[in-house]
Amino acid sequence: MQEKYTDAKPTNSAKKGGEEVKILDGKSLALQIKEEIANEVRQLTADGHRAPHLAAIIVGNDGASQTYVASKEKSSHEVGFTSSVYRMSESTSEQQLLESIEFLNSDPDIDGFIVQLPLPKHIDEQKIINAISPNKDVDGFTPINVGRMVLGQECFVPATPMGICTLLKRNGIETEGKHCVVIGRSNIVGTPVANLLSRKGFDCTVTLCHSRTRNLAELTRQADILIVAIGKPEFVTADMVKPGAVVIDVGIHRIPDESKKSGYRIIGDVKHQEVDPLCSWVTPVPGGVGPLTIVSLLENTLLAYKRNNK
Ligand code: GUN
Repeated sequence: MQEKYTDAKPTNSAKKGGEEVKILDGKSLALQIKEEIANEVRQLTADGHRAPHLAAIIVGNDGASQTYVASKEKSSHEVGFTSSVYRMSESTSEQQLLESIEFLNSDPDIDGFIVQLPLPKHIDEQKIINAISPNKDVDGFTPINVGRMVLGQECFVPATPMGICTLLKRNGIETEGKHCVVIGRSNIVGTPVANLLSRKGFDCTVTLCHSRTRNLAELTRQADILIVAIGKPEFVTADMVKPGAVVIDVGIHRIPDESKKSGYRIIGDVKHQEVDPLCSWVTPVPGGVGPLTIVSLLENTLLAYKRNNK
């Protein structure tokens, strides 16, 4: 049986074309979960324990990565975690990065850490991931954690797929026997979310689509739940969506927009203007999956803290 949560109600819904479209509000759900984590951390520290500690390594100056790491740091502080960020220059060698990982692996005061991706081209990403201790791998990227996840064993689940699962569960969305179509087979999102939703507890029938898939729209139109993680702005249009579908948009793209003070606006992989009126539930961009991704990393860090301090 799928676990059901009834505590979180949709905080936003709109009548569009006579049908109710419910917004999967990641922002307010993330706030609620952060409050739950913060309460637990307050209790731990009141009992004389140290706070959980999340560290991040960032190599180079990629703008999006800097933004993500700053957000993770801010959220860590909001829930009372200790947070450290190790900033390394673009010219860092693979060996230097491996040494930093070894340092974090053996520091007993650090419960979990991430190496922000992508890495500069001269560094072998998989070699770096393989060096992270599985017990501190709160991104769930190491082969040990991926293997454990596929086998349904205790592991760290990658943050974005975990956030998608939380959004579905906490909004009481039925998944059992539903056809879930995932667009995009990345190691970080598409492949793990396809695995998780096909497992017991979610019980979806999953189709995983990618760049070589034929007749993509024919498949996506069969989706009760459509997860879009292809990394192409406004790729999914109304003709690709079945009326009444649940649509989860994982995309985040900055588009120049002179009408905004910042000079840009954020859009997703879904053309929301035309797709949203068709949906039973839909994630907005921004404010859908993104906030849940960060919260899932915090949940994994708390889990690492508990597992490593048993
Ligand atoms: N780059 C994009 N998403 C992620 C993520 O979830 N973790 C890490 N480490 N890097 C990323």
